[in-house]
Amino acid sequence: MAATLIKGSEISKQIKEELKKEVTELKERYNVIPGLATVLIGEDEASKVYVGAKEKACKELGIYSERVDLPGDTTEADLLALIEKLNKDSKIHGILVQMPLPKHINETNALYAVDPKKDVDGFHPVNIGKLMLGQPTFIPCTPHGILELLKRGGIETEGAEVVVVGRSNIVGKPIANMLLQKKGGNATVAVCHTGTKDLASHTRRADILIVAVGRPKMITADMVKDGVVVIDVGVNRLETGLVGDVDFEAVKEKARAITPVPGGVGPMTIAMLMYNTVQAAKMQAGIEGGLKELKP
Ligand code: GUN
Repeated sequence: MAATLIKGSEISKQIKEELKKEVTELKERYNVIPGLATVLIGEDEASKVYVGAKEKACKELGIYSERVDLPGDTTEADLLALIEKLNKDSKIHGILVQMPLPKHINETNALYAVDPKKDVDGFHPVNIGKLMLGQPTFIPCTPHGILELLKRGGIETEGAEVVVVGRSNIVGKPIANMLLQKKGGNATVAVCHTGTKDLASHTRRADILIVAVGRPKMITADMVKDGVVVIDVGVNRLETGLVGDVDFEAVKEKARAITPVPGGVGPMTIAMLMYNTVQAAKMQAGIEGGLKELKP
């Protein structure tokens, strides 16, 4: 049985179309234009590509965007002062400080500096705390994209055995927490990591397997059961092209549904950043249906 493909490239387009309509309505009915500021420090090529893609998505949707590019030797004090200025800027509803930051800047200090109401990445400890408590908040973009893929891909999480491979703060920890919440997930969740003994004994139990480790093709066909749903968050650049953390060609023969790489989780991240920016604008303008509608 060959798997159904869960196509993030198509689902993300659908979400962006919905958001575009919402942005038009916000402008027409309330004269509110959602605004996103992106801050990029240094010359990391991958980060430049990501920030460029975020700007392009804003333009497509009618979201105001401000891009601040700073040299690699920018001091932490200067970054914190810039974030403070953006916190107070009423045109800006969301602030994204592109990670990784240069080594001389403490990432935690930068994350704490962003006003939680403008934290569209969902990385501020206050928002992470709310997420863990099941309270409405900004959901980090990649795990939020995974939830939408499951929901719109018709995958039931209620009572499912979910195995997450990877315990990063950006993907593994938040997606595990979200799926175990009664509302919106209600799954039984196990999180595997580098300290896990006999990884395959866990992954073989999974009804839904979510892999975010950054190791090309590490999940092989013998590590999954027939009928599994696989969400592959990995993006690994090999000489032969981009591959995920899952051996796609072999695993798709056993899976019920699987995300491709590229065109799976990747495009969802930016769509959900746009979603969070629109939510931030609604919340800051006091418009009904802001974050209250989110059910993490
Ligand atoms: N670097 C890689 N992914 C992300 C992300 O989702 N947000 C930010 N701010 N930086 C990143």
